[in-house]
Amino acid sequence: MSNEQHPSTKAIRIQTERTPEMEHSTPLFLTSSFCFNNAEDMRAAFADETNENIYSRFSNPGVDEFAQKVAALEGAEAGFATASGMSAVFGSFMALLKKGDHLLSCSSIFGSTHTVIKKYLPNFGIEYSYVSANKPEEWEAAIRPNTKMIYVETPTNPGLDIIDLAMLGKLAKKHQIILNVDNCFATPVCQRPIDFGADLVVHSATKWIDGQGRVLGGVVVGKKELIHDIYLFCRSTGPALSPFNAWVLSKSIETLDVRMERHASNALFLAQSLEQHPAIASLRYPFLPSHPQHHIAVQQMKNGGGIVCFELKGGLEAGRHFLDKLKMLSLTANLGDTRSIASHPASTTHAKLTEEERKEVNITPGLIRISVGLEYKDDILHDILQALEK
Ligand SMILES: Cc1ncc(COP(=O)(O)O)c(C=O)c1O
Repeated sequence: MSNEQHPSTKAIRIQTERTPEMEHSTPLFLTSSFCFNNAEDMRAAFADETNENIYSRFSNPGVDEFAQKVAALEGAEAGFATASGMSAVFGSFMALLKKGDHLLSCSSIFGSTHTVIKKYLPNFGIEYSYVSANKPEEWEAAIRPNTKMIYVETPTNPGLDIIDLAMLGKLAKKHQIILNVDNCFATPVCQRPIDFGADLVVHSATKWIDGQGRVLGGVVVGKKELIHDIYLFCRSTGPALSPFNAWVLSKSIETLDVRMERHASNALFLAQSLEQHPAIASLRYPFLPSHPQHHIAVQQMKNGGGIVCFELKGGLEAGRHFLDKLKMLSLTANLGDTRSIASHPASTTHAKLTEEERKEVNITPGLIRISVGLEYKDDILHDILQALEK
């Protein structure tokens, strides 16, 4: 038996040093700044000669504790937590890319990430191009001499495409490119991109990591020197995670492993129960043999995660009708909650895209995304079945 603790044990036990109050649960460091005993200690901290906390935009014990917990789960050397998932994504781009660099991204990515890449990065002279999640053979040909970073989400949001991390890890190493993976949908208890060669992993902690729909947060973990650059960028530009949110997220991390097991088993049950339903044209869940990249999913994921997608036969109108008929599932712009959530991307989150753009990223008119919660599985199924009735 190895002496090395399991990552989930580490994520439960990592805690800031106990204060003289001898608290068991982690304390909340709700403070903007930190004190020094004398001028020399203060000078040394500002000169980076010591690791003392100075100001909560730079560091805060609870925020660091949360980042260390995620780093332990991901098997990363270091981590830095941010105010939201988008600030983790943006910070990882801005700290490491400069004018003239090229970012190679999967085209199936979260809408705001797409906006950052397409609308804002070019303002800084950063080039980009996209590769389709369904065309893995195109990655290598798309690499340019100035490609500095490859960016992917897997499973993708909302289409649940699976991208081969081992293939990309090898490619990134061969061409000396930073591989940056948004692991939000899988979570680190289900998939560890660093084991397959990723250099950086970003998360929206707002989703499964919080798991209860309470706070926004983000985190980026990976190679020490890359995280240091991201820290320097964020320390100056200000997307600091609130110490209160960090405290909430730090406690959430302690139950992530056990929660995700139930989310995934509920999702698998739902996917199996709905796959043959007459109102459903097609259904996607990474751990169903019918998923086009099932063989990759089972190699890199421990379970299929908590999201199930299906295409309704009646298109856009059927999608809107389905949402209106749901009695228990929530209609809300989030995922990764104890409460099951239904969304219809074509009429909501992705309504601004053209039909053609939606098609490109597998968002069909009748696509429904279910974030499967922790309610009893038969109750979730029952609500969906009654909403599928004409
Ligand atoms: C895959 C993915 N990445 C990033 C984000 C952005 O996270 P946040 O809303 O915490 O900024 C989201 C939000 O839905 C997401 O689904």
